Amino acid sequence: MTQAETTPQHVYIEDAAPFDGQRITVKGWLYHKRSSGKIRFVVVRDGTGIMQCVASLADVGERVFEDIDRMTQESSLIVSGTVHAEPRAPGGYELTLESLQIVQIAEEYPITPKEHGTAFLMDHRHLWIRSRRQHAILRIRHTIVKAIRDFFDERKFTLFDPPIFTPSACEGTSTLFETDYFGEKAYLTQSGQLYGEAGAMAFGKIYTFGPTFRAEKSKTRRHLTEFWMIEPEVAYLDLDGAMDLAEDMIVFIMDRVLTTRMEELKVVERDVSMLERIKKPFPRITYTDAVDILKKNDIPFHWGDDIGGDEETTVSNQFDRPVMVHHFPAAIKAFYMKRDPQDDKLALGFDMLAPEGRGEIVGGAQREDDLDLLLKRIHEENLPEEAYDWFLDLRRFGSVPHAGYGLGLERTVAWVCGAPHLRETIPFPRMMSRLKP
Ligand code: 4AD
Ligand code: MG
Repeated sequence: MTQAETTPQHVYIEDAAPFDGQRITVKGWLYHKRSSGKIRFVVVRDGTGIMQCVASLADVGERVFEDIDRMTQESSLIVSGTVHAEPRAPGGYELTLESLQIVQIAEEYPITPKEHGTAFLMDHRHLWIRSRRQHAILRIRHTIVKAIRDFFDERKFTLFDPPIFTPSACEGTSTLFETDYFGEKAYLTQSGQLYGEAGAMAFGKIYTFGPTFRAEKSKTRRHLTEFWMIEPEVAYLDLDGAMDLAEDMIVFIMDRVLTTRMEELKVVERDVSMLERIKKPFPRITYTDAVDILKKNDIPFHWGDDIGGDEETTVSNQFDRPVMVHHFPAAIKAFYMKRDPQDDKLALGFDMLAPEGRGEIVGGAQREDDLDLLLKRIHEENLPEEAYDWFLDLRRFGSVPHAGYGLGLERTVAWVCGAPHLRETIPFPRMMSRLKP
């Protein structure tokens, strides 16, 4: 007989249910093992789940037992046997072991069930991602990414990829990463927005989805130097329309996570009732309302100040679902935001603050669509006009009202998972003091 005839079909653990009662092969790594007399329990993880394999000496013989006994945590292995439902086993299925092949015996694995410090775990991030909690968070991240793509694709938005090397700032010059571009200065993109605006004028409605970079010198739980942003941009949309879109998107994401990732939410011990209440409508308050909330909570704050992390927490704590704060003082917002026609001091921008003290997850605005006003802002901010000449063309050739926003992916994942720090929400976080691994 050939190998293919004797070795049962390779099945991923999460797909094992339809094979109940059949012989299958599982390929993975040793998660842990136990022994009890003439029985060995070998728990295998394969990236999609974990499965307990039960070996009895009578069935498998001395050699397989010796192999099991010399296997260390995270050794790679291939097992075959009959799978059957076992409600008491993790994952609900168990494999009666028939054969076991060691692929590699792992060296002493540095991450053990004992508590490790964060710095140690971050140094071993390439291995830490195998741990159940990290694995669950990254699978939820994947589901959120897919949900966001589906949300915009279903609404017939065109995916529009902006460049990463750029000649100009979008979100202020203090957080630019500068690099040498064949003798010219270039920056890593802070936001795809300006390019997204060009896309909106070409396609009507687009979304960008890519990594963005900010030289954040503050060490906070909410800031990475490299993070992923989703930025829809829509021609003929106004501020209210942008808030409607952001609200629909968040509800769509929640629904998807709650219907497909309950297992993972359990692993991260998330209180899902907090997510189940994320329903429309989300409260919308003005910046001035937010200032009143801060004052009522005895927070020293002056109209015109920027709302920082702690203040965001105070404001968002008043609500059980995300709150959108709009009509900010123009002076604290980016150059591209349109001013309120009723009050020139205000910008038609909004932030969405997530509940449970999560802070801002979305920032967006209606854009300045008048060429002269936009030029004036660029000069006021001392931005180099020549770097924006192409952007100004969008106001020269068929300018229309338009709006959009950016959703921070990692902040969204952190909120959904209840993760206290963004470092757990991306495979390899980049922060001021972290470039490795
Ligand atoms: O509010 P921001 O700076 O908005 C923009 O970049 C606009 N150009 C977006 C647009 O209108 N197209 O950033 C948007 C979001 C924030 O709400 C936050 O969720 C996330 O990006 N974000 C960060 N996430 C992690 N680390 C950082 N350093 C972040 N800075 C912003
Ligand atoms: Mg912002």
